[in-house]
Amino acid sequence: MLNQILDDCKKQLLAALKHKKHPFRFFTLATQTQNGKINLRTVVLRDFDSEKMHFNIFTDARSKKTNELKQNDNAQFLFYDSKRMVQLVVQANMIKIFNDDLTYDALPESNKKDYSSLQLPGSKIKGPDQLNHDNSKGYFINIEFKSSSFEYLRLKRPNHIRAIFTLYDSWQGQFLVP
Ligand SMILES: Cc1cc2nc3c(=O)[nH]c(=O)nc-3n(C[C@H](O)[C@H](O)[C@H](O)COP(=O)(O)O)c2cc1C
Repeated sequence: MLNQILDDCKKQLLAALKHKKHPFRFFTLATQTQNGKINLRTVVLRDFDSEKMHFNIFTDARSKKTNELKQNDNAQFLFYDSKRMVQLVVQANMIKIFNDDLTYDALPESNKKDYSSLQLPGSKIKGPDQLNHDNSKGYFINIEFKSSSFEYLRLKRPNHIRAIFTLYDSWQGQFLVP
């Protein structure tokens, strides 16, 4: 049964890459600042390698999360499927930040805007329309993470199911008290 749970997590993560409405398409990424403060934000799952257990996201090279991950590569992801009442918490480390020009060049111009503001992400502006872009000079980057544990919880009657899978345990898995 543990095998099936891990397989289902992988299946759902792969499905989220294909289906825009999949609940795992968006997840919460937690990073830590140098003084120990936690920052959370929603991001899109851009790639998942079920063999290596690697995850990828796209972001702006000037973003806070990028700077935090450069200082401290520890990250945590929270995936939640409200229909199935499944929560998946992933412990991960950032392993690679790279300019992915091929992917950026292939994006529609409207999407390039998410990574090409002239003003710094998070800086003050007078209003949402006061933003200028230069799509030829994007700050698009691809960040890759290696995961080291998956903690699964499914709320379900009569028995909730909680299990932990770790890289150090060769992803075999162990049930936990919910
Ligand atoms: C639905 C949704 C999806 C988002 N996807 C991304 C994303 O894939 N990459 C990203 O950098 N920011 C994404 N954002 C914006 C982030 O949540 C965040 O506000 C922004 O990246 C700045 O974060 P930071 O200052 O902590 O780096 C998304 C926001 C929402 C609401």
